Amino acid sequence: MKEIFENVYKIDNKIATKALSRKKVYDEKFIEKDGTYYRVWNPYKSKLAAAIVNGLKVMPIKRDSKVLYLGASAGTTPSHVSDIVEDGIIYALEYAPRIMRELLDSCSDRKNLVPILGDANKPWEYSNIVEKVDVIYEDVAQPNQAEILIKNAKWFLKKNGYGMIAIKARSVDVTKDPKEVFKEQKEILEKGGFKVVDEVNIEPYEKDHILFVCKWLNVE
Ligand SMILES: C[S@@+](CC[C@H](N)C(=O)[O-])C[C@H]1O[C@@H](n2cnc3c(N)ncnc32)[C@H](O)[C@@H]1O
Repeated sequence: MKEIFENVYKIDNKIATKALSRKKVYDEKFIEKDGTYYRVWNPYKSKLAAAIVNGLKVMPIKRDSKVLYLGASAGTTPSHVSDIVEDGIIYALEYAPRIMRELLDSCSDRKNLVPILGDANKPWEYSNIVEKVDVIYEDVAQPNQAEILIKNAKWFLKKNGYGMIAIKARSVDVTKDPKEVFKEQKEILEKGGFKVVDEVNIEPYEKDHILFVCKWLNVE
């Protein structure tokens, strides 16, 4: 067993996070080692896991990070981020009420996960709940996904904080070559005040997806 990032482990060729809770969030498996429980992190179910398996080098989410997570869905990846930030907090935003109910159910015992029902296009609507954060993680699969990250960074990201964004090429433009879409999205991020410091294509786990890690340089 090897700790590859803070609270992220490689165990028997699988990646796993140290379990903050024994409650299942999806169909993940638990592994017990010397009295500690770990949750196997499935790269086919989580784009962040896929990026780690595919060689992510810059991992800004640490044990004590404050994270704003945009597009939390039913909590698959947010629950692993919650495992990682055991001394931090994760604000998990989701705009679909039905999915939000699943998130509330599966993550109810996670004290560091704050579920918020809201639209990532309107950061002012949750600015009374969310504080300044170290990392914004975004996975919303929307045409304006890069703009959403920039908008939220202006409200909530600390100076020199990081954005992590899973870009789905087909959500931006189904007619374009994914490579072209990724290039354009990177340009939007860099014009908006980020510097892309790592990028990982997450095939074969997700088709036509890339994960960008970018540093927030906008210090206005
Ligand atoms: C691909 S899923 C996210 C999966 C999740 N990140 C995971 O790995 O477990 C995208 C989610 O983003 C949500 N979403 C899309 N647009 C949104 C918006 N503007 N504000 C908040 N959530 C949004 C969708 O309802 C959906 O649940």
